[in-house]
Amino acid sequence: MERCETAPGKANLETTVWAVAPGRINLIGEHIDYLGGKVMPAAIDRHIVIEATPIFEDFCEVTTDFGGEERKGRIEFSDLRPRVAELEKWLNYFIGILHFTSEEGSRLSGFSARISSDLPPGAGLSSSAALETAFSLVLDSIAGVERTVLQRARLCQRAEHEFAGVPCGIMDQIAVGAGRAGTALCLDCDKEEWSEISLPSSWALLIADTGVQHSLGDGEYRKRREQCDRVLQILEADSFLEFTQEDLERNRDALGDLLFRRARHAVSEMERVDLFAEALEKQDAKSAGHYLRASHESLRDDYEVSCAELDALVDSAYEFGSERGLIGSRMTGGGFGGSTISLVEQDSAALLQEYLRKNYSEKFGRELNCFITRLVDGASVGPVQPPLVTL
Ligand code: GLA
Repeated sequence: MERCETAPGKANLETTVWAVAPGRINLIGEHIDYLGGKVMPAAIDRHIVIEATPIFEDFCEVTTDFGGEERKGRIEFSDLRPRVAELEKWLNYFIGILHFTSEEGSRLSGFSARISSDLPPGAGLSSSAALETAFSLVLDSIAGVERTVLQRARLCQRAEHEFAGVPCGIMDQIAVGAGRAGTALCLDCDKEEWSEISLPSSWALLIADTGVQHSLGDGEYRKRREQCDRVLQILEADSFLEFTQEDLERNRDALGDLLFRRARHAVSEMERVDLFAEALEKQDAKSAGHYLRASHESLRDDYEVSCAELDALVDSAYEFGSERGLIGSRMTGGGFGGSTISLVEQDSAALLQEYLRKNYSEKFGRELNCFITRLVDGASVGPVQPPLVTL
């Protein structure tokens, strides 16, 4: 199950290295990775790319040129404390990776890195996990260190928890590292094991980015996790994997309305992932679409992590309808903004794209960033510039 990434090979301190890490969508299994549930993410053809040149110093320099502005920062290896000044907080992703890499005993070697991206930040497509993963690959490649996907995912997750302040699960970091072209991962977050599952070749995947920047660091994500911990305390259980819907019904009064609904989302979403996987294997578009819709409704009503823009996009997709080729649609990622995904028959993808764009600009008065995506391989590092068409 677990495998090594593209091996960095022997350290070559003279040569420029290129690391490339994709974003991810999640087909289903939302807000249950941190509860040990199964999830179904896939790497997409939007990437963070880092070009890094060794500089034989005890610091690294980072220049980013995405989001319309160039930013430069310098991180001394002798000072790997998290930055607190607002303008410097973006460096914390890198500092976190440097900190945990050195804590594990790896020597840090200086380099100068230029980072570019066609992965929109704040769009629920895991730009931060991609950034962490690519940066970690650069660091290891220059130092000649090898690490498995899972080891790297855990390191990046720690950086996210302790330096970026987001108590995320492990889904994004594994998806970014372990993605396989044309497939989604069936990832068991309890066992931290995964297998690959193919999408029918006649189905296309459409991503619609609301442009509402979600910020998982702002507290609501953490609140959801705390509410789930509270459910476990009240029910004196160790894991959500122990519950059925009936258990929750029996304990409805003890939980109260809010915690009951949070728990109902988690338990029902865990069931839906298995059912969706079965539907996918049978290429049963009708059932697959049904579970995607139910997942969105549960996130909207029980877990309350959707927003008006996401709901409108999902409603528009279902208005477009299965008779015109829609399979299903839902929000993807942490929510509070970000993106929706729609599965649609290949021949109808361009029509659905137009339909969503038109409805969205009429309703919200701004353009929708909507694109058909391919599922791609996970992150890698090497001595040559990767041939990415979208950058
Ligand atoms: C964010 C987190 C993930 C996961 C999703 C919701 O993307 O980083 O760990 O919890 O939200 O499914």
